[in-house]
Amino acid sequence: MYDVYKIRKEFPMLTGDIKMQNKPLVFLDNCSTTFKPQCVIDAITEYYTKYNSNSHRGDYDLSYKVDVMIEETRKEVATLVNAEQNEVVFTDGATGALNLVAYGYGLKFLKKGDEIVISVAEHASNVLPWFRIAELTGAVIKYVDIVDGKILPENLRKVMSKNTKIVSLAQVGNVLGYVEDVKEFAKIAHEFGAIMVVDGAQSVPHLKVDFKDLGIDFLAFSAHKMCGPTGIGALVGRYELLNAMDPFVSGGGMNSIFKKDGTVDYRLPPYKFEAGTLNIAGILGFGRAVKFIKEIGIENIHKHDEELIDYAIEKLKDYENIIIYNKDARNGILTFNIKGVFPQDESTLLNYKGIAIRSGEHCAKLLDNYLDTKATCRMSTYLYTSKEDIDTFVDAIINGGDILDAYFN
Ligand code: ALA
Repeated sequence: MYDVYKIRKEFPMLTGDIKMQNKPLVFLDNCSTTFKPQCVIDAITEYYTKYNSNSHRGDYDLSYKVDVMIEETRKEVATLVNAEQNEVVFTDGATGALNLVAYGYGLKFLKKGDEIVISVAEHASNVLPWFRIAELTGAVIKYVDIVDGKILPENLRKVMSKNTKIVSLAQVGNVLGYVEDVKEFAKIAHEFGAIMVVDGAQSVPHLKVDFKDLGIDFLAFSAHKMCGPTGIGALVGRYELLNAMDPFVSGGGMNSIFKKDGTVDYRLPPYKFEAGTLNIAGILGFGRAVKFIKEIGIENIHKHDEELIDYAIEKLKDYENIIIYNKDARNGILTFNIKGVFPQDESTLLNYKGIAIRSGEHCAKLLDNYLDTKATCRMSTYLYTSKEDIDTFVDAIINGGDILDAYFN
């Protein structure tokens, strides 16, 4: 039995009487980032108070302990998504991971006239690195159509050609929140000789993602969207592809030898991609967050998100002035507008009531034509969101005060 009230007790942000505008905080911007449970905060503090030392460099006990803990975290992350331990590269987040594929793989293997397929629903981190690689190599960006918020495999097939080398799509978009069939996309990409890159920033925290079963080539995600710290995430990649790729950042820890004549031997992946002192506290916090997610169970988290979105939609569906853009998406994301109300006004009004949502373009600046609006409001849930949070949100929307009453009368 999922006990959200018990789970909430683990989060200082939910137990600490935190207020916004002097109202109890209702946090519904979990796509953007999530709260951290005490165990994650403790894991970070413990590193600085008990094990502070550099990793992969020291010949003393403290440093060795940190090495072991980092590798334990790598294993923890690998098992979460069913990958091999040496297929997990620590990055500074999903953005860093996607840039690593773009510069490490794209820049090395793409040439003029090659094609990169993305969609207009991608957020900036899965668009702009590809724009840069296209600019640097002469490759061309192509877009797969979105129909009813989703990417249909047959539409992906239509846009593919023998020149397509990379397909890079989110498993769950950060605005529409539909779960895409990336397993089928990977089959199509491979038929055409392309690789399949998956942005898992909004999927890995919310549903069971099986890297091997999906048959994808790369998977990028961030810790901070799954109760972990900011500034840390992972790129999971098929080992032979990681091996073939170039490093993106060079420095200490990623080479085994370098000489005056410029020759360098790189270490094997994943270390080849982890130059410089790692974000050790972040990695240890990430590991604890993954354990925390596993203890609750990712399937339970997904079900909880689904129930909350169903509950919100049920309460809102009869209000004709509310436009919901993703009624049948169930991944903890509800994107909406109120007719005649500017989205930023709506989120500012909710702020006055202690409620945090996001409004605007949500970094997905190519989606405006599809949505037929420049900006939207987005409410997003996570494992600690309660039905009472949704009640407060719905009440605030339908009792909008001076600004919004007109639209409900
Ligand atoms: N990509 C994050 C969001 O959707 C920041 O809010």
